[in-house]
Amino acid sequence: MGTRRSFLAGALAAPAVVSGRRYSAVEIGRMLARGDVRGRLSKEDLPTPALLLDLDAFEWNVSRMAEHLRRHGLAFRPHGKTHKCAEIARRLIRAGAVGCCAAKISEAEAFAREGIGGLLITTPVVGRDKIERAVRLARRRPDTIFSVDNPRNVADLDEAARAAGIRLNLAIDLHVGRRTGVMPGEPALRLAEQIQSLRHVRLAGLQAYAGHASHVVGFERRRQVSREAMEQAVHTRRLLESKGIPCPLLSGGSTGTYNIDVEIPGITELQPGSFIFMDVDYNRIGGRDGDFYGDFRNALTVLSTVISKPSADTAIVDAGLKAFSTDKPFPPECRTRQGISYSFAGDEHGRLTLSGEARRLELGDRIEFVIPHCDPTVNLYDRIYCVRGELVEACWRITARGMSQ
Ligand SMILES: Cc1ncc(COP(=O)(O)O)c(C=O)c1O
Repeated sequence: MGTRRSFLAGALAAPAVVSGRRYSAVEIGRMLARGDVRGRLSKEDLPTPALLLDLDAFEWNVSRMAEHLRRHGLAFRPHGKTHKCAEIARRLIRAGAVGCCAAKISEAEAFAREGIGGLLITTPVVGRDKIERAVRLARRRPDTIFSVDNPRNVADLDEAARAAGIRLNLAIDLHVGRRTGVMPGEPALRLAEQIQSLRHVRLAGLQAYAGHASHVVGFERRRQVSREAMEQAVHTRRLLESKGIPCPLLSGGSTGTYNIDVEIPGITELQPGSFIFMDVDYNRIGGRDGDFYGDFRNALTVLSTVISKPSADTAIVDAGLKAFSTDKPFPPECRTRQGISYSFAGDEHGRLTLSGEARRLELGDRIEFVIPHCDPTVNLYDRIYCVRGELVEACWRITARGMSQ
């Protein structure tokens, strides 16, 4: 039996084998910290659990959505709440996006600090602290658009903008889903008239997110739910314009409805998020031509390591409740190997039930999982490793991780 000293000596003498070169764990840690990984590391070298982005799939998803919206003459303002990553926002803008949506002010601030413009904050900014921050953000990025659904909030924003000597762009958030928003039609018109009457706010248009439509299972049913919701938004836009109130923007839509909302005249831009990554939840909603929604490729996975093998048909991996979001009723899915089914086994552990060839899994084997729900999973990680095949090509910071204020 080896001593602790001989074990340590062995570990230090046998660093990772990497693309023909060998690096120690310390060297790998330094490279990862610097983000200087291109061509040096492979998936095998990554400390797990690790969040992986398959660049081929990601690039394919981005160009598919960008091309789809270009073809239909709609603007593209993908939602940054999905990735929270400035580098991804930059790549989307390079692919033709007019900017980036942010769910909250802190997320928008993080993007702005990284030079991302064309921000649309899709949640109302309420309260003294948030309004102060909104004014600061608008000074830095005057094209930022803030969503509003309440006359008092509009008055507060106008007052803060007056005191700062600036003008804020507002989008009226319509209640076409199950969350925030003023009712479409007359109530929205009254809010628009209030905005028109004030000097320090300007109406950019309408924000209408029908979140209840995005995951409706079955294409035809989803089309019906999205149409019912978004037609109220289009009607409101026409109502405002019929009263002489310009309304150049009507932003909405999601990954689940991207090919439905483009058929509704009057919507000016889409703000999908999950399409860049995809997840188990979206795969299950069904596409135009089948039960599996495969319009976009699964680009996001979590890489884990087998750390225990209690029996031939059970293995334990190092990825548990802290490695995946747990808000869905289904577990992560291993799609790279047959015969593995995952169940949560605690904060740091996942239990694999093995059958067939998978019973041969050994300690140290790497297993990759498609995750149940992308947005909250990304928020669990500081960085995302970008891979092409087995090689790690880049390491991007999740710039706005944890920024939910
Ligand atoms: C306001 C808003 N717009 C767009 C999206 C993007 O939706 P998806 O990730 O389903 O494409 C979301 C996601 O929750 C959202 O909250």
